[in-house]
Amino acid sequence: MTDTPESPTPPSEYDRHYATGGFGYEDRRDHWLAWARRHYVEAFGLTPGRLLDMGCGDGFWTSIFRELGFDATGVDLSPGGIEAARSRYPGIPFLVADADEVLPFEPGSFDVVFCRAISHFGEPDLEAPRVTALIPRLMALLAPDGVLLASYHTNRDGSVVHGRTYHPVSALVRLLEHGGDPYRVELVGNYVQIGVRRPGESALQARSAASRAVRGSGGRHLRIARAVRRLVARLVHQSTKRRT
Ligand SMILES: C[S@@+](CC[C@H](N)C(=O)[O-])C[C@H]1O[C@@H](n2cnc3c(N)ncnc32)[C@H](O)[C@@H]1O
Repeated sequence: MTDTPESPTPPSEYDRHYATGGFGYEDRRDHWLAWARRHYVEAFGLTPGRLLDMGCGDGFWTSIFRELGFDATGVDLSPGGIEAARSRYPGIPFLVADADEVLPFEPGSFDVVFCRAISHFGEPDLEAPRVTALIPRLMALLAPDGVLLASYHTNRDGSVVHGRTYHPVSALVRLLEHGGDPYRVELVGNYVQIGVRRPGESALQARSAASRAVRGSGGRHLRIARAVRRLVARLVHQSTKRRT
């Protein structure tokens, strides 16, 4: 992966950027295909299934996942990006939508949500509510056992390059923790990949059974405590009556 050359900053500029060729990844398609197979699919144990590429730009990475056997869909806020994606990769579904809003998919619709360099990751404050809210919103789109895979540049020093903040790995991990406990973090050069898995059906069932048990035993304890209090009050009452 190379540095993102001359990334436009305000989202409206992306339309222009994609209309004039975008990031130029196609020039090294074979290289990126091998890179994605190794550092996304194999490293994170992804198995082909329904994949959402959130912030897909002009669709290059969506098309790479298609080629790797995933049923991939791309979404971006930039109409220019989606227009370029549709004309370059016909047959792949692409749509314009805002990741900050309710997204037009049922909860649990995807096995993988892939999110590479979406603008949120380059915001100066990764703890800003708009940024943190993105992560649980994406997690909700995952089926049980599904994976949110985030990928972004890191200079590990918070430096600003082309108007984007390149956060330390730990700050990006903390951001992803808003979706759960990451199961893998991988650094490749100046790029970091972070995977968070949505708990599987059995883990969710075990968790809700455990919380039912705690609530149940809490209720039982409360009933016993009340009965003991009533008994003690009756005994105290009887012994006071005997003394008078
Ligand atoms: C640096 S580009 C990355 C594009 C692509 N993922 C890649 O790696 O080449 C950032 C992308 O995030 C998109 N984006 C920014 N805010 C967004 C939002 N709220 N919803 C969806 N996409 C958004 C931009 O339109 C832009 O295409």
